[in-house]
Parts: sequence; structure tokens; C-alpha cells
Amino acid sequence: MRASAAVEVAPSILAADFACLGDAIRAVERGGVSLLHVDVMDGHFVPNISIGVPVVASLRKATRLQLDVHLMIENPEQYIEAFATAGADMISVHQEATPHLDRALTMVREHGCKAGAVINPATPVVMLSEVLGKVDHVLVMSVNPGFGGQAFIPEATEKIRELREIRDRHHYNYRIEVDGGIGPENVAEVVRAGAQILVAGTSIFHSADPAAAVREMAHLASEALAQRV
Ligand code: DX5
Ligand code: ZN
Repeated sequence: MRASAAVEVAPSILAADFACLGDAIRAVERGGVSLLHVDVMDGHFVPNISIGVPVVASLRKATRLQLDVHLMIENPEQYIEAFATAGADMISVHQEATPHLDRALTMVREHGCKAGAVINPATPVVMLSEVLGKVDHVLVMSVNPGFGGQAFIPEATEKIRELREIRDRHHYNYRIEVDGGIGPENVAEVVRAGAQILVAGTSIFHSADPAAAVREMAHLASEALAQRV
């Protein structure tokens, strides 16, 4: 059953030192991750600017980790091909960022990437009901997007639970991802609710030993998973 699949930790490089991204990647590789979360911000959809296509292309050359690209940009359809060509493995599009979410998700899949839909804290799960049968993952924002280092918004846990119930009821196949304010203190809560991909920036890259931080979160996740099943 999907619910018992291993939980993955996806370090968000937003919290890493951009001048030393190679070192940051090698540290989390040592911690045993298989995903790297890449936050793309345009200064319009969110009030911050981060990184874009050339950085994804460089990351692609620097690591074999799966690149999980989180688009926090207006008009995402315009950039999907570029991010796919640059080497993204997963591309997530915000429900709030486009009136054509179905088209955007289809484009992601047509370009050979796993397609994810994202919802902000103020967006209910029901806004995704028409696309849940077509997505590879659903990303629940547990902070308002735009910045690392914010506090976890606890209402996200109930959305994770709701997405898990919907998936079980309809036999859908998506994985449930959570992003924002995730650290050792709330891993058990979100994993018990049904989260399978845990995005974490600050709690990994601002720690003294990112590899150890990843291993600790993975350990807490597997303990919580064992309790859940
Ligand atoms: C927020 C980003 C997150 C962020 C998480 O807009 O989508 O991925 O990097 O950072 P922390 O773990 O510091 O909340
Ligand atoms: Zn993110």
C-alpha cells in the first residue's frame, strides 16, 4: 500500500549558501537523500526573487539527485519547457498561479517530468479536486511561500490527512509533499498525517551538520511511519 512507502527528505537549497552550492549538495548526499528541492521565485507571485533556469542546469551537472523544482512564479506555463530541459525531474505548479492548472500539469508531464500541484495555506484541498487523478504529487505549503525560516502553520496537517483520505478513497497515486517550517519537532506529526516528501531548508542547511540533520529527520520519519501503519 502506498501509505507505507518510505518517507523522503528533500533538502531545500534556498537555505544553503549559494556561493557553495556544490558543498551543500555533497553534504546532503552524504546524509542519504535522493531528492533536492529547488525554489524558484519571481518577485511577482511571491515577494522574493531566488533562482532560475541556469541554476537548475548547473545543479543537473553537479548531482544525480532528483531535482524537485517548485515554481513560485506567475505564468508558469511559459517556463515549464525551460526547466524540464535544464534537468528538472519533478515540477510543481501553484494552483493560485494560473487559471490553466490542468494545462500546466499536462505540459509538465509532456516534457517528461513528474507533475505536482501546490496549494498555499489559504487554499483548501477542494480546489485541486479536478486534477488529483492526474498528478504525481501534491505539495501542501505549510508556510506562506516566498521565504525560508518561517514557522510551520499547523492547519497544514489536516490538509495532508484529507489528501491521504481522498487518495485512498479514489485509488489515486499521488505522493503527498509538505514544505515550510519542517524540522525534527514536527516530522512525526506530518508523517503520521500522511506526508511522504518532507521539504526542509533551514533545519538542514542552518544546522552544524546537514548530513546528520537529514539522517535525524529520516530516522524520525521512519519511526513515525512505523507507528502509523
Ligand atoms: C518557501 C519555500 C520553501 C522553503 C522552506 O517559499 O517553498 O521550500 O525553502 O524553507 P524552511 O524549511 O526554512 O521553511
Ligand atoms: Zn519550496
